[in-house]
Amino acid sequence: MAGSGFHDPRFARIFPPNAAVRDNGVLEVGGCSVPALAEEYGTPLYVIDEQGLRERMRAYREGLAARWPNSQVAFASKSFPVLAAYAIAAAEGLAIDVAGAGELLLALESGAPAELIHLHGNAKSHEELVLAVEAGIGAIVLDGEADVERLDDLLTRPQDVLIRIIPGVDPNVPKAISTGGSASKFGLPISQAKELIAKLEAHPFINVVGLHLHIGSQVLEVEPFERAVEAVRELGEFPVYNIGGGLGVNYNVTHDAPSLDAYLDAITAAAARVLPAGSRLIIEPGRSLVARTGMTAYRVNNVKRTGATFVAVDGGLADQMNVALMNMEFTPIVADRANAAPDTTAQLVGRQCESGDLLVDRAELAAPAPGDTIVLAATGAYGYTLSNNYNGALKPAVVFCRDGESRLAVRRQTYAEFLGHHVGPSEEAWAS
Ligand SMILES: Cc1ncc(COP(=O)(O)O)c(C=O)c1O
Repeated sequence: MAGSGFHDPRFARIFPPNAAVRDNGVLEVGGCSVPALAEEYGTPLYVIDEQGLRERMRAYREGLAARWPNSQVAFASKSFPVLAAYAIAAAEGLAIDVAGAGELLLALESGAPAELIHLHGNAKSHEELVLAVEAGIGAIVLDGEADVERLDDLLTRPQDVLIRIIPGVDPNVPKAISTGGSASKFGLPISQAKELIAKLEAHPFINVVGLHLHIGSQVLEVEPFERAVEAVRELGEFPVYNIGGGLGVNYNVTHDAPSLDAYLDAITAAAARVLPAGSRLIIEPGRSLVARTGMTAYRVNNVKRTGATFVAVDGGLADQMNVALMNMEFTPIVADRANAAPDTTAQLVGRQCESGDLLVDRAELAAPAPGDTIVLAATGAYGYTLSNNYNGALKPAVVFCRDGESRLAVRRQTYAEFLGHHVGPSEEAWAS
């Protein structure tokens, strides 16, 4: 039944696997009506197909294990740092990748086992490393000498680490999400990594178990991943290789991202060519785990025909930064009439005070009107992550849907919380 009833049947591969259109045209996900969710929880609202998310996590884990038994899939939690997602990832047998103290705290709070958590980052603070070491996390990914110096001061027992290397592979993706080229701020060039590894050989507590790399995000071909795996050849043999995440996803019907099978085939074939037999292969996908299973629901506040037709919703840059950062071309639909052929070409805009707050250029919509619920598909990755308070917008709620039940995973921020960050006039006489 996946995707049945959409006005464009190709939408079935963009929307969540458990999305469908009811006979009356209403879009549902996980058996829940999206307009009804918008009414109950308010908008903007991130809506997650929980079963779809679990199945995707399982497909990743089982697919990699079938090809490379000594393997691990880690959820790159930066893509969707929601406590419920950490808990679900751990329950589905995934490890957790964190890139900062806040994400580490979420992972620990979710109940994920500490030994399955790894921390990376190019500018880790002393406090973050203290937290990581005290929690007993599985591995810390070292970015260079600064991490070593901080750990020198801290460690009183052995700690497994990976060395982040720059593989010199620059995939064809927007600059903001390319991380593997020689100019990357992350990790060390191969020659410097070699030196650091040699230096750490005799370290009493820092135990180098392997290498880590990540070439970028929204990568729409498998060949750069193969080249990245091959780049580790020069560094000798290790028990563990973490080759990062990065697989791209389809945001609209013109995209054709590699399938999970094609990606796993390619990386394990490359691993078989260059990695020691029996070594542990770790991948840490984010976007391709969570993007498709998430949608964002908005309420239409204004429809206006001036120089163009503008359909303005109650969200925008504050909850969907990716459109401005990476020119993401998301797929919109009117959730109240998801079976109706579009009759309007509109600029789907947000409410933030920027002309760049354009959610979809030339959106094809079916009779959009104020009060409608409009959904952007495949917005499960990095949307919630990048949400912010631009123009005083409140950070949206997140709801998980499964078998006709909805569960609130993140409460909408309140104005009291929003104002509470500020030192107010009752505490400080700003006006005088
Ligand atoms: C080190 C590292 N691992 C994994 C990821 C996840 O990448 P993606 O969401 O593209 O799978 C990122 C994101 O950029 C990253 O920086």
